[in-house]
Amino acid sequence: MTATTRRFFGIFCLMMFASLLLCAAANSHWDRVPSKDHIRTNPLATHPESVPAGALVYKDHCAQCHRSDAMGDGRKKPALRSEHIRSATDGDLEWFLREGDLRHGMPSWSSLPEAQRWQLVSYLRSIQ
Ligand code: HEC
Repeated sequence: MTATTRRFFGIFCLMMFASLLLCAAANSHWDRVPSKDHIRTNPLATHPESVPAGALVYKDHCAQCHRSDAMGDGRKKPALRSEHIRSATDGDLEWFLREGDLRHGMPSWSSLPEAQRWQLVSYLRSIQ
C-alpha cells in the first residue's frame, strides 16, 4: 500500500465512522423536535373527558394501522405502548402527530383540530 492509498483509506474509515455515529444519533423522531415544541405540556392533561375523547379519535384514525390494542403490526407499524413512547414529552408526541413521517408511512394529523391531537396524547399516556 502506498502512503497515499493508506491516507485515503484512513479518511474513508473516519467518514464511515462519523456517518455511523450520525445515524445512531438521528434514530429517534424525538431528536428532531424543535425545542419550543419539545417543552410543551398537554393543556388537556387534567380534563376528565380527554382520555375517552382521544380513544374515539384513535379508533377512527389510528387503529387501522396501529391496531385497536395499539400493539402495532409487529412489522412497519410500531406499537404505541412502548418505552419509546414513554420516553417522549407531551410536546414531542403532539409535534410528531402534527408532522407525521409520510416517507415511512405515518400520515400527518395537522388537519385535525389541535385539541384532538392533545386528546390523542392523553389517550396514549393512559394506555402505557
Ligand atoms: C396509514 C397507517 C398509519 C396511520 C393511520 C397512523 N399511523 Fe402512526 N405510524 C405509522 C407508521 C408506519 C409509523 C412509523 C413511522 C416511522 O418510523 O417514522 C407510525 C408511527 C407513529 C408514532 C411514533 C411511534 C414511535 O415509537 O416512534 C406515533 C406516536 C404514532 N404513529 C401515532 C399515531 C396516531 C395517534 C395515529 C392516529 C391519529 C396514527 N399514528 C395513525 C402508520 C400509521
